[in-house]
Amino acid sequence: MKTPQLNPVMEPLSWMLGTWLSDPPGDGTFPTMKPFQYLEEVHISHVGQPMLNFSFNAFHPDTRKPMHRECGFIRLKPDTNKVAFISAQNTGLVEVEEGEVNGQELSIASHSIARISFAKKPHVEQITRKFRLNSDGKLEQTVSMATTTQPMTQHLHITYKKV
Ligand code: HEM
Repeated sequence: MKTPQLNPVMEPLSWMLGTWLSDPPGDGTFPTMKPFQYLEEVHISHVGQPMLNFSFNAFHPDTRKPMHRECGFIRLKPDTNKVAFISAQNTGLVEVEEGEVNGQELSIASHSIARISFAKKPHVEQITRKFRLNSDGKLEQTVSMATTTQPMTQHLHITYKKV
């Protein structure tokens, strides 16, 4: 199928489109865990609808074993810079984050989080993310979270090159 034109509503987020690969590997941190690194492949695409489709697939840097995975949609409220980020994660979490796009920077925070009844503890209570397109053409993502045991602290920082 021929790729349709980007829906004009999504133009403010067009800088996120593409296939991205971690470069260098991402850094994982949290007060309760030993710092770790990870690889991540990201696909952000559209089919002409007023939304973007995304998948984030993380891998162990040595064994390449699949790790965290999430997929979903990014929507923009027409004629505003208000963004909604809807994500289903392989850990049993489903979340909606909302926020704003300003230029080539998107800042969002969790609005609602649902999880499966047997999700691993501690549970995450709040999530914030920042995406930014840097002047060198790399995409950067920073994720912070608060859990039932820890206040809001950075969990992930990663930059991706376009492939
Ligand atoms: C641990 C949430 C993305 C790797 C955790 C924990 C939570 C969490 C709540 C347990 C913290 C604790 O024990 O105190 C999330 C959320 C994510 C996310 C909400 C996305 C928004 C990722 C990604 C990776 C990752 C992309 C990359 C591989 C890990 C690892 C641990 C961990 C290795 C420690 C071992 C484990 O508990 O499985 N995460 N995470 N996480 N996360 Fe994430």
